[in-house]
Amino acid sequence: MKEVEYDAEDAELGDFPHYMLKEIYDQPETIENAIRGRLSFDEATAKLGGLNMTPQELRAVDRIILAGCGTASHAAMVGEYLLESLARIPTEVEIASELRYRNLPTSTNTLLFVISQSGETIDTLGAMREGQRKGHRVLAITNGVGSTISRESDGGSYMHAGPEIGVAATKSFTSQCAMLTLLALLLGRMHHLPVSEGIRVINGLRALPDKIREILKLDAEIKVIAEKYAHAKGMLFFGRQFNYPTAVEAALKMKEISYIFASGHPSAELKHGIIALVNEDVPSVFIAPHDTVFVKNVSTIEEVRARSGPVIAVTTPGGEEQLRTICDDVIVVPESAEWVSPILCSIPLQLFSYHVACALGCDVDKPRNLAKSVTVE
Ligand code: G6P
Repeated sequence: MKEVEYDAEDAELGDFPHYMLKEIYDQPETIENAIRGRLSFDEATAKLGGLNMTPQELRAVDRIILAGCGTASHAAMVGEYLLESLARIPTEVEIASELRYRNLPTSTNTLLFVISQSGETIDTLGAMREGQRKGHRVLAITNGVGSTISRESDGGSYMHAGPEIGVAATKSFTSQCAMLTLLALLLGRMHHLPVSEGIRVINGLRALPDKIREILKLDAEIKVIAEKYAHAKGMLFFGRQFNYPTAVEAALKMKEISYIFASGHPSAELKHGIIALVNEDVPSVFIAPHDTVFVKNVSTIEEVRARSGPVIAVTTPGGEEQLRTICDDVIVVPESAEWVSPILCSIPLQLFSYHVACALGCDVDKPRNLAKSVTVE
């Protein structure tokens, strides 16, 4: 048996009532830890030493498959957008349990990447071993230092997020997104991404801890909103592009700890069936920063309003004024580049689900029927 190394101090609850809340508040530091020493201003790129691949081997990668379970698979969905837009490398997300039993056609230049907070999830481990059996090099993003996946993978990087005790993954999600941004930056700069864009990505990452601190100041305001909707019959979460995964992840958080049925969708899918669920007892949460798809999100919000559905929006300052006129509640996070927007937009929704669950008297850190790490199939 191998002991997983952690600093005991990181696992102390301190003044927080729950580990989940503590871990939400850890995020300025955990993001800092994920990027520390991994950014090069001179070369406008990222350095991920543990990948064990030469620049030539990395450059030859022409397809990436990202696999994980639960929250890790949602980070992978963010990674798909990142790798395609920054590195222009075709990327697919596979749920690890499916990848394991699929006969997925791959070529020598397909890179497999598994993502796992614990590094012990049996389905993710199985997907990794199946990839290796086929002769692939499989890399891993993990948090659990010395975990089975980190030991058996052919290379990879640690998130350095410290122990995550709350069953609902919070800081590990944002760290995974940060790590995938580093990976996309590294590969992007090997292909077409110019120095100026590389610097923009670096600056976007470096600005995160302070922006997260700003978001955490909204905690009391978010608690009031959460208490207003805690008795909802169900909740819908919507986002587009980079924030479609944010919607799916936010819905998972809500289900896991409050037991309210929730689902996350690309905003434009509303009209393809989900709209049938909209009524005054089912609030819709829109992740709608003031970005290239803001106007599209606004028109989808109007559709929900027209059917008496309450709307809560997460936006940035540029979108606030307009959304205040059509939404019931608006949460404003700092402006950011779209690549890091899922990190910033997911944090108020972690707080939202946390406060909903507390208002309902749920056991936030140990929700029923769930395990922190699923090591049986
Ligand atoms: C369990 C947990 C989830 C987690 C998933 C994957 O289902 O309850 O919160 O996202 O496992 O865990 P991993 O450790 O592989 O990231």
